[in-house]
Amino acid sequence: MNEPGMLARIYTGLDREGPGEPADVAWAVARLGLSGRITICDAGCGSGADSATLAELLPQAQITAIEQLPHLVNEARARCRSLANVTVRQGDMADLAGRHDLIWSAGALYFLGVTEGLRRWRGALAGNGAVAFSEPVLLGPPDDTVAAFWEEYPAITDLDGIVARIEAADFELLDHRMIVGAPWARYYTRFEAHLATLRAEDDPDLRAAVAMCEREIAMWRAAQDRIAYALMLVRPR
Ligand SMILES: C[S@@+](CC[C@H](N)C(=O)[O-])C[C@H]1O[C@@H](n2cnc3c(N)ncnc32)[C@H](O)[C@@H]1O
Repeated sequence: MNEPGMLARIYTGLDREGPGEPADVAWAVARLGLSGRITICDAGCGSGADSATLAELLPQAQITAIEQLPHLVNEARARCRSLANVTVRQGDMADLAGRHDLIWSAGALYFLGVTEGLRRWRGALAGNGAVAFSEPVLLGPPDDTVAAFWEEYPAITDLDGIVARIEAADFELLDHRMIVGAPWARYYTRFEAHLATLRAEDDPDLRAAVAMCEREIAMWRAAQDRIAYALMLVRPR
C-alpha cells in the first residue's frame, strides 16, 4: 500500500483534521488578550480551519500557516484565498522562522514532542509571545479502550504529565481547558460521513484504510467521556 497516498485520500475534503472548535481559538485569543497588528503562526495547520478563524478574529494580525503535506497545503490555501492576512507555506514546523506573538498548534505539537517542540519554538516567539497547543491527555487511569485508542502515542500522560513536559522546556502554564465530548463528536460525525463516500469505491487498500478509521471512531464512541485533548496556553519563563 502507498501509505502517504492513502492518507491523502482519507484526509482530503475534511473541515479539519482533528477535534477542535472556533470557540477554542476565541477562548485562547481572549485569555491571552491578543489584538491589533500581531504576528501569528499556525503550526501544523492541516487544511487551515484555525488559520481562518484566527484571521477572522484578528483581522489586523499577520498569520503564517505551516503544513508539511502538499494536499493539505492546497486545501488551506483554497480555504484562506479570500483572507488577505493569511499566508500558507509548505514547510517543517520544527524550524519556524520569525518572531510570533502567538504560535497556535492544534493537535500537531505531539509530532515533535511537547518539550522538544517548545524548546525549538522558543526562538520563534516575540518578547511576550505565547504558545497555544492541544495535546492528547489522560483523564484518569486508562482502561483497555482508552489504551487501545492511544496505542500509537505511548508518550501520552495526564494533565500533570503535560505540565511537567512544559516545565522541562522552561515554559510556564498560563491556563488550559479540556476538549472532550461534543467537539470530538462533531469531528467524527463529519469524518464518518466522508468515510462513507470512500467506502463505496472499488479499491481494497482504500477499504482497509477506511475500516481502520472506522475502528478508531468505534473506540472513541465506547470511551467518549475519557478521550480528550487539553488545550494548553504557555509562555517561556
Ligand atoms: C492532527 S492534524 C491537525 C491539523 C489542524 N491543526 C487541525 O486541527 O485541523 C496534525 C497536522 O500536523 C501536520 N504536521 C505534523 N508534523 C509536521 C511538521 N513537522 N511540520 C509541519 N506540519 C506537520 C500534519 O501533516 C497534520 O496536518
